[in-house]
Amino acid sequence: MANVLLLAVFLLSCGFPARAQDDSIFVTAAKALERQLAENKEETGRLKNQVDRLSSMVETLLSRVDSLSAELSEEKVRSAQLEQNSSRTESTTEAPAATTAPADCSELRLSGQRTSGVYTLSSLPSGVQAYCDMDTAGGGWIVIQRRQDGSVPFNRTWEEYKQGFGNKSGEFWFGNENIHHLTSQRNFKLRVDLEDWSGNENFYEYSSFRVSGESDGYRLQIAEYSGNAGDSMEQNNGQKFSTVDRDNDADSDRSCSQEYGQGGWWFGSCGRSVLNGHYLRNCGWYCADWQGVVWYTWRRESYSLKSVSMKIRP
Ligand SMILES: *[C@@H]1O[C@H](CO)[C@@H](O)[C@H](O)[C@H]1NC(C)=O
Ligand SMILES: *[C@@H]1O[C@H](CO)[C@@H](O)[C@H](O)[C@H]1NC(C)=O
Ligand SMILES: *[C@@H]1O[C@H](CO)[C@@H](O)[C@H](O)[C@H]1NC(C)=O
Repeated sequence: MANVLLLAVFLLSCGFPARAQDDSIFVTAAKALERQLAENKEETGRLKNQVDRLSSMVETLLSRVDSLSAELSEEKVRSAQLEQNSSRTESTTEAPAATTAPADCSELRLSGQRTSGVYTLSSLPSGVQAYCDMDTAGGGWIVIQRRQDGSVPFNRTWEEYKQGFGNKSGEFWFGNENIHHLTSQRNFKLRVDLEDWSGNENFYEYSSFRVSGESDGYRLQIAEYSGNAGDSMEQNNGQKFSTVDRDNDADSDRSCSQEYGQGGWWFGSCGRSVLNGHYLRNCGWYCADWQGVVWYTWRRESYSLKSVSMKIRP
């Protein structure tokens, strides 16, 4: 094509005198151009067909890769089971069988369990079960607190917050002793999920979450955060836990637990989050200040949220 164009330009520029004598040279050039164009069209058609064929091959390959990797992960679970089964049979005569419960919800998730619910975990004291959230942001979360319908009162004593109370499938506090036990074994993230009465959801996450032992007042340590709901727990960081009957807050003149919804929490002076306050239901933007389920940086102090949950994952 380029050649023919060059030829045409050459003839036009230096062969001008010849034009009058011999128009046929232009006719020939035009015919050559036409031919070239037709050939190009054919070539384009051929290339397009090839591209179509190749992309359908790529699609087939990709879906094959997908199904292979799914098979592979199933196979991994099977071989892990097999290994466990054989080590179990080997060990029966010598030592008591090793515990088969996963350490935590994330290990359970990795082993293929996708259903949220109450499970036995080996990293918890015996007899304590945990609710695993397998749906939120990749799953594998141990839920340590949930409010959703007001069926469980949260104005409880130090002893009750220490042991935990409520219903793991409904509303509950996991227990400061259990939370301390878990978070002293390894580093956990904390995620706070929030929902208002218009169906809006939001969350906030701390990259590290730790609660000290009772002798230190179940002190809260959180670090690095992200999310769109704002950091309402900033002023709770480093504080001891307080309840209506145990005032450990940073304000010596008053009891934040008594004044802020009678729940147990890591009150500072007094802080901007009260996730264990009264379940006030839908009182819109005009609930009693700081008495409800409050996450100040998202919905302020006079809004009591519809549902909240706190969950941890390594
Ligand atoms: C391992 O044992 C369990 C029950 O003890 C059984 O259901 C499972 O199929 C076994 N897995 C394999 C891979 O043999
Ligand atoms: C919780 O509130 C109820 C109702 O107001 C009250 O009867 C109960 O004594 C309170 N519990 C505590 C531990 O303050
Ligand atoms: C626990 O809460 C769930 C969900 O609200 C409910 O279905 C279940 O009946 C409750 N169980 C008990 C023992 O209260």
